[in-house]
Amino acid sequence: MSTKLWGGRFTGANDPLMEAFNASISFDKRMWRADITGSQAYARALARSGIISGDEAETLSAGLERVADEWAAGTFELRPGDEDIHTANERRLTELLGDVAGKLHTGRSRNDQVATDTRLWLLGEIVEMRRHLHDLIRTAVERAAAEIDLLMPGYTHLQPAQPTRWSHWLLSHAWAWQRDAQRLDELTSRVSSLPLGSGALAGNPFGVDRGFLAGELGFASVASNSLDAVSDRDFVAEFLFWASLTMLHLSRWSEDLIIYSSREFGFVVVADAYSTGSSLMPQKKNPDSLELLRGKSGRVFGELSGFLMTMKGLPSTFNKDLQEDKEPLYDAVDTLRDSVQIANGVLATLTVNAEKMAASLVPEMLATDLAEYLVRKGIPFRETHHVAGAAVRLAEEKGLPLSGLTPADLRTLHPAFGDDVADVWNYERSVDQRDATGGSSRRAVLAQIDELRAWLG
Ligand code: ARG
Repeated sequence: MSTKLWGGRFTGANDPLMEAFNASISFDKRMWRADITGSQAYARALARSGIISGDEAETLSAGLERVADEWAAGTFELRPGDEDIHTANERRLTELLGDVAGKLHTGRSRNDQVATDTRLWLLGEIVEMRRHLHDLIRTAVERAAAEIDLLMPGYTHLQPAQPTRWSHWLLSHAWAWQRDAQRLDELTSRVSSLPLGSGALAGNPFGVDRGFLAGELGFASVASNSLDAVSDRDFVAEFLFWASLTMLHLSRWSEDLIIYSSREFGFVVVADAYSTGSSLMPQKKNPDSLELLRGKSGRVFGELSGFLMTMKGLPSTFNKDLQEDKEPLYDAVDTLRDSVQIANGVLATLTVNAEKMAASLVPEMLATDLAEYLVRKGIPFRETHHVAGAAVRLAEEKGLPLSGLTPADLRTLHPAFGDDVADVWNYERSVDQRDATGGSSRRAVLAQIDELRAWLG
């Protein structure tokens, strides 16, 4: 007789390469806890339906706990026939309990089992992920509060544009991460839909109470259609998209900091703890942490697009292709868990060079403010934009910074310039004038900080 759980109809052995090709134990063993917990709940549900006795359910549950203890202690020994975590646990349970172990899989299939395990495992990872993300957002918010006074150049097209606050830049990324955290919460309800009790595809014949199972396992709802339940991997695709967008945000944040930490900018210094040196050039200190965050984003995007390819042509219900959901999912979870923590570490230990940031502000970045000065005197903006442009040209011709033009120089361009135009050449004032909600004024930035602190709780 074949040693395989499904071996009854088989006479020949598998090609050894096929055996290895088919097996998922090398990676899905990490879901051992979810598999045990799911089986314990299922044993209780079987007893409630009357198909096994209460004593048998307790025996199964206690036996499963012994299997769990072996995994936890690192003493679980894999055997050659252990195809996946489900077969491995059942094989071991049979060794420990004998015949009664054969009752556990009554009315269940690995199809509803694996979908349940994967969801249960992911729900646990999401709890941890949410915590790391909140930590990162908190670090950004607290830095923004502590460093509210620091001004820096703001860029569009990577060209100096208008002065802004360092805090405003920090929070611009914190808001993207906050949306990531919200998105994670929103997708959680769809991960938390229970497949168990759907059987291989057609449903459970022993009347197991799926609402009871959902309650035992902490699922928010019960999947309504067994055919859908065993093949629905939307939760994997959705998580991979979430991971991709979160990595995209981390990557763009990293790119900013890579630029700001270059010698030419010198706005920030990445701590030694998150940098590495060059094996050849002794002077080098490279922001490898940030480059890896940027680089690893590509790997996660690949996992999303690869998985969508895996899914797109599948006929209804379970197909073995679905086993290919796990490695991308696991890798994305691992990559995100590390990446968010590394980003937090980089941000918490980053040194800011306030002088260098302030010294990079140039009067030309106030050309818009010059136009706005005339707007406040009642001149239409379209006209004032031209006048300020002419002022930039005039200063260039005279070899002066824009602020070097006297009120008299400016009056040659427009009669409305008064002596109070000198007030325009003040970066702090420029920033604080942008006081509408969402702007870079001190008040508006403090309001963002309050809003994010309230959200963090
Ligand atoms: N290892 C399989 C997976 O990861 C478990 C489900 C196997 N089901 C089956 N009908 N062969 O999806």
